Amino acid sequence: MKGPPGAGRTSGPSVGERRRAGRGQDVRNRRAVDAGLLESVRETMMADAGAVTPSRVAAAVQATGKLLGTAGSLAAAERISAELNGLGPLQELTRDPATTDIFVNAPDSVWVDRGQGIERTPLVFDGEAQLRALACRLVAAGGRRLDDGSPCVDVRLAGGYRVHAVLPPVSTAGTLLSIRIRREKVFTMSELGAAGLFGPRLQIVLEKIVEHRLSFLISGATGSGKTTLLSTLLGLCSPEERLVLIEDASELNPVHPHVVSLESRHGNLEGGGEVDLGELVRQALRMRPDRLVVGECRGAEVRELLTAMNTGHSGGGGTIHANTATAVPARLTALGALAGLGPDAVRLQASSALDVVIHVERTPRGREVACVGIIGDGPDGLIVVPGLQMAAGVPGPAWPALAARLGLDPADLP
Ligand SMILES: Nc1ncnc2c1ncn2[C@@H]1O[C@H](COP(=O)(O)OP(=O)(O)OP(=O)(O)O)[C@@H](O)[C@H]1O
Ligand SMILES: [Mg+2]
Repeated sequence: MKGPPGAGRTSGPSVGERRRAGRGQDVRNRRAVDAGLLESVRETMMADAGAVTPSRVAAAVQATGKLLGTAGSLAAAERISAELNGLGPLQELTRDPATTDIFVNAPDSVWVDRGQGIERTPLVFDGEAQLRALACRLVAAGGRRLDDGSPCVDVRLAGGYRVHAVLPPVSTAGTLLSIRIRREKVFTMSELGAAGLFGPRLQIVLEKIVEHRLSFLISGATGSGKTTLLSTLLGLCSPEERLVLIEDASELNPVHPHVVSLESRHGNLEGGGEVDLGELVRQALRMRPDRLVVGECRGAEVRELLTAMNTGHSGGGGTIHANTATAVPARLTALGALAGLGPDAVRLQASSALDVVIHVERTPRGREVACVGIIGDGPDGLIVVPGLQMAAGVPGPAWPALAARLGLDPADLP
């Protein structure tokens, strides 16, 4: 690919793509197509701003006058459609519904996560230019620019893709891409339970947390399933409630009749027009939310969120990156520092604003809720005391207090 082809349609695989027999065949086809022919067809397609449809590509291939035979024409048409649409050459990797992430570290280093850890794929780009052009096109499709002036960009694309791209020299090698694939479908509680995220008793505890309007944070490492669980839990909120969701890149899609979503906006090149998460929390408070949710707390907006929760907006929540439930206080303290809050201020604010931490983990058995803890003000600062610890198989020290807050009998062990 010689230059960024501009913002293309980001849809699912085309009919042509689906027709391809397998990944190995795709890679062979890609190499079989003549580079000069590709360039000529690409130019024809880009000369017209219309949608890149398989039939337009096929006509452009025919118009080159090259005799490719049926298989060759098909391969060329498919390759060009893939380059100009969706995730380009990476689109084929999304055909496996188990794929949740794609990472490109170099033109010949493409990796996927299909639930069994990160695996290398045989997919190879023609070179750095093709990879960089794809990154620029994807970012442009998300309404932002990727260039030397803004070499690290995170965008959300139609089709449930979240794309993060980094250009050199910020990346010490070449262009880097990290793509998260979100399935449009929202899991129900029973589906998450059946997938092993929690057992029936723990399911009741999670449902009661929503029903009793406890304020919660879902913690876990990257890709542990925090956002997925949050979407499902928000679907349990009463239909009479008004949910206001605040996110950096909109991902939450709870099944609920009354949801309002706000997404932060990055500034232009001069830094103008920025609307950050903290500002969105302030705006949301004027929108009469029954539940205020910050998709992911990762910066100074923690100050506004804790303030909101301390001023009559209970029952809300969000997600936070932390390796264990007990590491959440340290994480909150660090985020509070970004907002100019000292450890004591964070301790006082968080202990009264938040009720529970639900920690999710990826284990060799799959994703699991590992701990539900009560967050509180301990003798040495903010603490999370486990109420349920799945690995230990026994209730934690805070189980009686947790059970009491959820209207459960403490003797009725999960
Ligand atoms: N229980 C589950 N079963 C199947 N797939 C899941 C499950 N939970 C999450 N996933 C998938 O795993 C991927 C990561 O999930 P999710 O975005 O919820 O993680 P996260 O912890 O919020 O990640 P991040 O730290 O990047 O915000 C998504 O593609 C999601 O669809
Ligand atoms: Mg998330």
